[in-house]
Amino acid sequence: MNAANAHSLLTIADIAQRTGLEESLLRFYESEHPDDLPAKVLRGDALLFPEEAVEAFQRLHRRQDPKQAVQPADRPRYGRVIAVTSGKGGVGKTNIALNLAIAIQRLGKMCVVVDGDLGMANIHLLAGLSPRPGMMELIAAGARPSELISEGPDGIGVITGGSGIIALADSDQASRRKMIKALSEVERRADVIIVDTGAGMGRGVRDFLQAADEIIFVITPDITSLADAYGLLKGICQERDDDRRPIYSVVNMADTLQQAANVALRFSDCAHRFLNRTVKNIGYILKDATVGAATARRTPYSVFRPQARVSRQTHNLAVALLRQEMEELRVSSAFSRYLNILREEATP
Ligand SMILES: Nc1ncnc2c1ncn2[C@@H]1O[C@H](COP(=O)(O)OP(=O)(O)OP(=O)(O)O)[C@@H](O)[C@H]1O
Ligand SMILES: [Mg+2]
Repeated sequence: MNAANAHSLLTIADIAQRTGLEESLLRFYESEHPDDLPAKVLRGDALLFPEEAVEAFQRLHRRQDPKQAVQPADRPRYGRVIAVTSGKGGVGKTNIALNLAIAIQRLGKMCVVVDGDLGMANIHLLAGLSPRPGMMELIAAGARPSELISEGPDGIGVITGGSGIIALADSDQASRRKMIKALSEVERRADVIIVDTGAGMGRGVRDFLQAADEIIFVITPDITSLADAYGLLKGICQERDDDRRPIYSVVNMADTLQQAANVALRFSDCAHRFLNRTVKNIGYILKDATVGAATARRTPYSVFRPQARVSRQTHNLAVALLRQEMEELRVSSAFSRYLNILREEATP
């Protein structure tokens, strides 16, 4: 240990030792991303890094390489698996899932978004990624869990869904199990896994909803959206009596905050009164032309216009979600738990 360490100031060699990263790579990050690193301190005639630089370099490195970002963490823990769902289609799930993942990643967490729509996957389109085989196809071809992940905007990981043909595999127990097992590996390697499910309660959607640690219902002021969301929540509640997982609502496409608040209240009120379930609202995203404009450019809206209202509201959503800590659940894997449930179901 040299003199710099004694003052909690670090040379680049110290940081290389602490992080296991090459000095030349650290120098590269230093020149390319000065704004993402803490300011150096002059000690004698040397400019040294403060202690926080270790984490800042690690974060930068994870951002450069999403596969690296999902290497196993040193402590055994599992990322939060959060399903984004709705009763009715077209309410904004995919847009919210993708941009929420970006917002979470920007807050310093490793985030992977999974396209759980195995029939009509479209996250990669919105994320501006070129088409690639869906996860079921990749798993069938023997891909490792880390190979399922593509690098998405702002360093998020993206796991693509399927292409329609794969809807066949939807009913195939063995393939579904393989997929859930692969996802349980991914879980050990990211802080948050956001799953964009299809709408309703089809077989494929049900897997993701049952496996998730937490569920976000996207609802809109449209009356059928509320009724369908309620129907889906009722279905989820009927599946398991002991289900006490957190359920959240996000109101999308309201014209005003007042209208959004009313919609959230109506949903939580019904859930409480008729199902005895607490639904906590974690955000409102108002109707915003930025969403359509960004889609036309195949760019997530929070990358296209980070300062737009819709992007700021999605950032607030990420902050609200990260505040809901779930430590007790994170010591076990959501997908592995679900795999066990499937096994029990299969045994007569
Ligand atoms: N806040 C918003 N303001 C304006 N338009 C929006 C907003 N959110 C979503 N949209 C638009 O609504 C449509 C549906 O969005 P999206 O595809 O994200 O919904 P979805 O719930 O994933 O749909 P599906 O059920 O078909 O998967 C898109 O045209 C999108 O541009
Ligand atoms: Mg969608």
